[in-house]
Amino acid sequence: MASSFETASVPPRLRRVSTESLTPREISAIRDLLAAAFGSDDEERFGEDDWQHALGGTHFLLEVGDEILTHAAVVERTLEIDGRPLHTGYVEAVATAPNRQATGFGSSVMAEVTAHIRDRFELGALGTGRHRFYERLGWQKWAGPSFVRTAGGLRRTPDEDGYILVLATRSSRPLDLAAPISCEWRPGDVW
Ligand SMILES: CC(C)(COP(=O)(O)OP(=O)(O)OC[C@H]1O[C@@H](n2cnc3c(N)ncnc32)[C@H](O)[C@@H]1OP(=O)(O)O)[C@@H](O)C(=O)NCCC(=O)NCCS
Repeated sequence: MASSFETASVPPRLRRVSTESLTPREISAIRDLLAAAFGSDDEERFGEDDWQHALGGTHFLLEVGDEILTHAAVVERTLEIDGRPLHTGYVEAVATAPNRQATGFGSSVMAEVTAHIRDRFELGALGTGRHRFYERLGWQKWAGPSFVRTAGGLRRTPDEDGYILVLATRSSRPLDLAAPISCEWRPGDVW
């Protein structure tokens, strides 16, 4: 086993991996990391729906040696701002191993995620209560009313108001942060 000095001297490595290229070992390590980081509190617990929401796009893994210490995923969604559909990179499952938090790993991963979204999408979006962590990287709080698009039409999601952050890109500017915003329906938390 590596000594703590050896582990500390190994530089962190950041990798992008599509869901279909994740190995069973990586999937298991990411799921363990998410369970540990979100904890067992009912409100915060990382459930099966949350895991499903993180699949189908690109995973960002920060590793030291062969240990995954931070994870984030970007999946494609279509958000609508004032009825205008935008090809959106939606960020899911952001977590750092509890014993390695507040050392800059999460910010490194989110800087890479932010650049990826700016390159490939019209808009970035995510749901969070940890605004400062993302705002440092250019994310902005959505100030308008939020909705979900269902088979029965637009439904308000008032509990999400104030918890949605967006990332403007060259193609989405200028953004009216006070406009209505909507996402497509999905099982679990729609935002
Ligand atoms: C949110 C989370 C992913 C952040 O990951 P992290 O690796 O700790 O992120 P960082 O270390 O880059 O930044 C975290 C804080 O530590 C501070 N920090 C960064 N480097 C630091 C350092 N070297 N020394 C002291 N503090 C530092 C940052 O300023 C930041 O503070 P802020 O968020 O209040 O602005 C992590 O806390 C986590 O996994 N939480 C549980 C799951 C969760 O809530 N996920 C996000 C859901 S939206």
